[in-house]
Amino acid sequence: MNPATPERFDLRCPRCRDADTSARVRLGPQGLVCAGCGASFPMVEGAAVLVRDPDALIEAQPADPDLTQYLLADFAREPPLAWPAASPVGPCPTSWLVPHLTPGSRVVDLGCGVGGAAFRLASAGHDVLGLDLRCGRIQAALQLRSHGHQALGDGSRVVALKPRGHLDFLVGDALDPPLAGEAFDAVVVQNLYDSVVDPVLLLNQCGALLRPGGLLLLATPYQPGPVALGPEPDLALRQLLGTGACGATFTCVTEGETTWGLPDGKRRLVLYRCDVLVGRKLTTV
Ligand SMILES: C[S@@+](CC[C@H](N)C(=O)[O-])C[C@H]1O[C@@H](n2cnc3c(N)ncnc32)[C@H](O)[C@@H]1O
Repeated sequence: MNPATPERFDLRCPRCRDADTSARVRLGPQGLVCAGCGASFPMVEGAAVLVRDPDALIEAQPADPDLTQYLLADFAREPPLAWPAASPVGPCPTSWLVPHLTPGSRVVDLGCGVGGAAFRLASAGHDVLGLDLRCGRIQAALQLRSHGHQALGDGSRVVALKPRGHLDFLVGDALDPPLAGEAFDAVVVQNLYDSVVDPVLLLNQCGALLRPGGLLLLATPYQPGPVALGPEPDLALRQLLGTGACGATFTCVTEGETTWGLPDGKRRLVLYRCDVLVGRKLTTV
């Protein structure tokens, strides 16, 4: 972790905080330490783990057979072998957000995976913190930040964009973010809303993290099929955000659709239609 990160992003202790108070954490030799309760949070191969119960999270880390496909999806300069020459994958959802950000914005990317969106935003000059529950993905993002590239087992290579702003990553829970309230100019939720156990709580946390006037980017893949999220999940999402039902009221800045692709092995590309919404926080309810 960059020593400036705890202060730059106002990292807070997830262990001792309640609704009204949260103590800052600082970086010690072994990891992050709470300035209030003294709780310590370890580093796992360079990745700071800032969750309520780090030992339980580390022990429960699932195997991650998808790591390579996420690296390819986010950072492959050349499309992997079997992708069609004219790739059906659409623009990264961050391209809906970037034109609305003021220079040097402070952004948090919740469920950042291996960090593709975070690198894009940092390469545009913004200060970005990426947060994900999987240690291996955060370690991969940190490796890319340090070296700029990574060789994959199959001989292919991924290359990261060069950050111009401050860029860091940590292991943390988007549903219980170790961050101060109203501290961010933008919150990115890309391909996460549909995979958390409590999407409404996630929206509540987004509203709490944003300063008034801050921007929320929600990009959500919808899969066809009877057990998917329903015929018009995007409508329900817009209602939640527009009515203040998630603790803050948002107005729509821009919206659209893109195609997100995840390579599955070398010869298959799984495509998702992805609903993109940028909302501006008006009020805290
Ligand atoms: C579908 S992936 C999307 C990754 C990345 N945002 C992207 O667009 O490629 C969802 C990510 O969210 C992470 N995740 C799931 N629940 C989370 C939570 N409660 N807090 C933080 N990350 C979470 C997963 O580990 C995974 O990396």
